[in-house]
Amino acid sequence: MLRLDHDNTLPFLDASVLDARITGAEGAHRTLLKKAGPGSDATGWRDLLVEPDDALLGRVSETAQEISEEADVLVCIGIGGSYLGARAVIQALTPYFRHPSDVPEIVFAGHHLSGTYLHELLQYLEGRSVYVNVISKSGTTLEPALAFRSIRRHLENTYDDPERRIIVTTDPSAGALNTLSAERGYRKFEIPRDVGGRFSVLTPVGLLPIASAGIDTSSLFYGAVDACNALASAEGNPALLYAAVRSALLDGGLSVDLLSVFEPRLHGFGLWWQQLFGESEGKDGTGLFPSVAQYTTDLHSIGQYVQDGQRTLAETFLMVEDDGGDLEIPSSDDDLDGLNYVAGKTMSFVNRAAHNGTSRAHADGGVPNMTLWLENVSPKSIGEAIYFFEHAVSVSGYLLGVNPFDQPGVEAYKKEMFSRLGRP
Ligand code: PA5
Repeated sequence: MLRLDHDNTLPFLDASVLDARITGAEGAHRTLLKKAGPGSDATGWRDLLVEPDDALLGRVSETAQEISEEADVLVCIGIGGSYLGARAVIQALTPYFRHPSDVPEIVFAGHHLSGTYLHELLQYLEGRSVYVNVISKSGTTLEPALAFRSIRRHLENTYDDPERRIIVTTDPSAGALNTLSAERGYRKFEIPRDVGGRFSVLTPVGLLPIASAGIDTSSLFYGAVDACNALASAEGNPALLYAAVRSALLDGGLSVDLLSVFEPRLHGFGLWWQQLFGESEGKDGTGLFPSVAQYTTDLHSIGQYVQDGQRTLAETFLMVEDDGGDLEIPSSDDDLDGLNYVAGKTMSFVNRAAHNGTSRAHADGGVPNMTLWLENVSPKSIGEAIYFFEHAVSVSGYLLGVNPFDQPGVEAYKKEMFSRLGRP
């Protein structure tokens, strides 16, 4: 199970303030579980773990199996919460270099407005067997809708049976994707009404792409179920502690929380976390700005700023107890590079020393930091981490006095953009 180490925040916090925040977090936790807070009609992400729908998991697996057998490429079309979770889990749980031969390549589209990307993607799809999973809760989001229009045309021009290759994931009845799937006979998975986009990775939104990538979605899902059960009590609850410490740091004048990973395959998970916290907390003029770093790579770019720039930063390290990185560093007879002092040690050992040293140095430099430890990078651990952060951000939003489940701010740019596009 997950473990949170917050020792490097204690010198920065007044103990009585932290105690008050912990008490507040316990109250917010009860509010969440009782569905008594703002946006409680959007807490279905928790209900689906309390009462797992194994038949749905089975249906997702069967469809993924068909995709694996038939497709060279699965194009997942979606943006924001309709894409970041699937990408995070797939990146975390597939090999760095070898594409498994028995599963389709998963590519993403509709997550920006680059015409060059779409053009090159259409060229890439030529001659390959393609399935499409178009994912949009509203069915009206511009980026995925435009990408789907072009990719749909490619399928219609290429196959006799395009409708068999298109799977829609959307609201139970509203939106253009429902109209399209009813008219054209596409298969459909539903996104429960009471699950918002950024909380939807454990619905078919995330599960179908993840299962199609050959990942064990049952272990992922039940890892989250285990965490949901473990974090149901306020007693010794690390998600509440995480929310309480962040809240106290915000009150102490900090404005940024940097999620830093030392395993590159977790970078996408950081981007999922970034949306989860950004959209849930960043409203009514409050919230820590969520940012993501991949270490040690980024210690050679923003490391200087983190150590020594404006003191507005807190940091959350996402670490792995057993990262599987048991590659031993070879010794060298002549030791010309002077590295024999680490010969015989593993790369994991060196990476762990880098984390230890960085967390100490950053704390000494005025950056309070916590470390969340995952047991390993497995479907189960990733499922646990997903639930941990969903629970923590809900409590954190209530502590801030905001509705953690809405996102009114994202409409502003759309209004300006659509007026320039001449939308009727
Ligand atoms: O978390 C959210 O609600 C958003 O990020 C949405 O997921 C994103 O805007 C995409 O919306 P939709 O799924 O309706 O296309």
